[in-house]
Amino acid sequence: MTDNNRIVVLFSGNGSTLQSILDQQSKYQYQTAAAISNRPAAFGLQRAEKAGVKTIALDHKQFQDRNSFDKALIEQINQFEPALVVLAGYMRILSSEFVEHYQGRLVNVHPSLLPKHKGLNTYQSALDAGDSEHGTSVHFVTEELDSGAVILQASTPINRTDTTDSLEERIKRMEQKVYPEAIDWIVSGRITQNGQTILLDHQPLDSHGVRITEQQLED
Ligand code: GAR
Repeated sequence: MTDNNRIVVLFSGNGSTLQSILDQQSKYQYQTAAAISNRPAAFGLQRAEKAGVKTIALDHKQFQDRNSFDKALIEQINQFEPALVVLAGYMRILSSEFVEHYQGRLVNVHPSLLPKHKGLNTYQSALDAGDSEHGTSVHFVTEELDSGAVILQASTPINRTDTTDSLEERIKRMEQKVYPEAIDWIVSGRITQNGQTILLDHQPLDSHGVRITEQQLED
């Protein structure tokens, strides 16, 4: 266990992922020091306030460009001296300065089994591709979009009756179980990194990270 267990969560909208991080905090070792949204109307701000967590709304529209916004964001984040910066539905491209600043301390959850379906609309992409499964990935963030080393993936089979809505519902449910746990692994020092290789409890993981099925999560 490291001394610093503080996390700062960045989000842009509804904040159901943020909610799961807040709800499960008592069972894990991380502590949410602040929740920061780039959209002042984001519902997640109300969720964090209700949980008694410090909130900050930093409207990206008030800044001239990405770099000046990200610089201000770094200043806001750093006042909490977090061990880890957690992206939870944070829907903005990050500048390279930002990513570099938090290298190894910046984590994201993306709704696909990376490297498949990077970017937006992953549910539709998986259906269009005729994939037999879809899922979510927890990964460290690097400069290239949705490309950093994967810590964990959770998968669900795609059924013939699935729609983007049904897939989203199942995948969000999985994310809300696995993301808080993965955050805890990182903050408690169980996850380490050697180049592109991730280790959990000193055991190297393959490029998919820890692989969990929806069935295993339900058991
Ligand atoms: C989550 O499903 C997360 O995986 C996705 O946004 C959703 C946020 O929902 N993130 C990305 O697509 C990042 N590329 P929420 O606002 O209800 O937490």
